[in-house]
Amino acid sequence: MISPRIEKLINDQFNMELFSSNLYLSMTSWFLSQDLDGFANFFRIQAQEEMMHAMKQFDYLHNVDGKINMMAVGAPEQTFNSIVDCFEKTLAHEQKVTASISNILHSALEDKDYATHTFFQWFINEQVEEEATMKTMLKKVKLIGENSSSLYLLNAELLQRTFQAEEGA
Ligand SMILES: [Fe+2]
Ligand SMILES: [Fe+2]
Repeated sequence: MISPRIEKLINDQFNMELFSSNLYLSMTSWFLSQDLDGFANFFRIQAQEEMMHAMKQFDYLHNVDGKINMMAVGAPEQTFNSIVDCFEKTLAHEQKVTASISNILHSALEDKDYATHTFFQWFINEQVEEEATMKTMLKKVKLIGENSSSLYLLNAELLQRTFQAEEGA
């Protein structure tokens, strides 16, 4: 049986994954409004991955006889100053998620909840990938700056990204 404290932490994490999904959908629509369909595609897939993270946690909590309580999800920003601003906010958000998952791992060990500790190993590894991807993207968009032909090429490259259930599962 899961402790009330861990159950609450997983509920909060689930809510954070839903917020992440909303944030990336908000960025998807902002990029569409900027006519950057490749960047929009990149964030649409990010949003799908976050929804899969949420559902993975939903299923886990119910498997250990806990319960997900649906809560209001905060409204993300609707508009962004620039492409660089988008990726800076994404990286900062992913760093917050990493800290939150680290806290779950720490608390699970304190409570000798080894099942939760093992389950969240996958998420902490995923965060290493997420942060690395966003750091790389941030470097690329900073390098591109105002160069419209490079921006065109990167946008075309990002249009090729497809959703892999395994990436987000
Ligand atoms: Fe996530
Ligand atoms: Fe993420």
